[in-house]
Amino acid sequence: MENKRESWGSKTGFILAAAGSAIGLGNIWKFPYIAGENGGASFIIVYLICIAVIGLPVLIAEILIGRTTQRDPVGAFRKLSNSKFWASVGGMGIVGGFLILSFYAVIAGWALGYIVEALKGSFFNFTEPTSSANYFNDLVGNIFWNLGYFILFMLITAVIVWAGIRKGIERGSKIMMPILFFLLIILMIRGLTLEGAENGMKFLWDPDWSKIGPQSVLIALGHAFFTLSLGMGAMLTYGSYMSKKTSVPNSALQIVFLDTLIALIAGIAIFTSVFAVGLDPAAGPGLIFHTLPSVFIKMPGGYIFSILFFVLLTIAALTSSISLLQVVVSYFVDERGWQRHRAVIVLALVISILGIPSALSFNVLADFKIFGLNFFAFVDFIASNILLPLGGLLISIFVAWVWGFDKALVNLREGAEKLFDNNPWVIKFWKIFLRFFAPVLIFLVLLHSIGILDKIINMFS
Ligand code: PHE
Repeated sequence: MENKRESWGSKTGFILAAAGSAIGLGNIWKFPYIAGENGGASFIIVYLICIAVIGLPVLIAEILIGRTTQRDPVGAFRKLSNSKFWASVGGMGIVGGFLILSFYAVIAGWALGYIVEALKGSFFNFTEPTSSANYFNDLVGNIFWNLGYFILFMLITAVIVWAGIRKGIERGSKIMMPILFFLLIILMIRGLTLEGAENGMKFLWDPDWSKIGPQSVLIALGHAFFTLSLGMGAMLTYGSYMSKKTSVPNSALQIVFLDTLIALIAGIAIFTSVFAVGLDPAAGPGLIFHTLPSVFIKMPGGYIFSILFFVLLTIAALTSSISLLQVVVSYFVDERGWQRHRAVIVLALVISILGIPSALSFNVLADFKIFGLNFFAFVDFIASNILLPLGGLLISIFVAWVWGFDKALVNLREGAEKLFDNNPWVIKFWKIFLRFFAPVLIFLVLLHSIGILDKIINMFS
């Protein structure tokens, strides 16, 4: 069965697909609003440190496990450890794939729906920012709008994964990623040329250390996982279609570089615009859906830029959602022997059903609370704040102590001989970070997440 397994057509194809997985709603929707809420520049510095010290080492570990075993997450851990416990760590990743895609596609559906709103010129009916917030609330409050675009988005995701690794995911990423870069650069230039843009730049680049506390460090670290698609086997799965000739450390570095670059460019594009029209940078999750439409109205060329922005957002979400679906599909194909096309249809359907309560959390199920959170927020919390860091923690422990560095290094060397011979210190750093920094810091994040959960439980018991 293994020799029939698919593979990437080229190194660039893999990098673009993996960068596509990393670059998503996390970069364009989440990063700007959490940076906005946590003081801007100083938060960004902490975030960059987390990406370098924890994100990069864990990313290398994940891709390496995938490339070495050429298996889905469950099969990969089983092959390297022969243990049920570690196979179930892979299983946690599969569960993560189901959960994350089920709510991720809801927000992605909004982005898709907003392309239509932008085309219709709906934003130009707003006279003040509150009316764009009301408009947004009306749309997400509408079951048919919310569910309809969610299902449409799931359908597009399924079509790409159905077409396969090379013809679907790789080809799709090769087309969509350059468009995404191009659109984002245009939007950044537009933002920078607006009057008052310098205030946005100040907000992004002048650190205010008084705003940094343990809480924001933990948010930064949690986000480092989400944005790099770490901790649930997405990068492991993509790595499993990779050839041994491609260098893992170099690929990981390129993925991290692209993901960070895009988050920063998105931050510039969004904050220069928000400050230019004098809106609140700390508007929270609604930042791009309530605030930006009212920015577009006031901006010369706003009609075109609003369309470009939501196209960009949808593309970014799509290159991530396909990686989430592929994780789940790879498990059922590799471990359960399902036929690939059947797996895509069945699993996309199951995830669509699982996502319905998330989509309804903004309307009919708004009052349905689990530990004080609506269904959407609850699933997001469990997946992003518990499953991903826990997965990352276990992956670093696995490589450092279970599989063992010596074996891991033999595999890591393949395709990266030059790096090993010329810059052996890079490898030493990887070892130190993966063995100590990553597990300790991730453990702290987890304690924090569980602490929040505790508070919520106490509140209601
Ligand atoms: N990295 C994606 C983003 O930033 C989200 C994601 C998380 C994708 C986990 C796959 C796995 O939007």
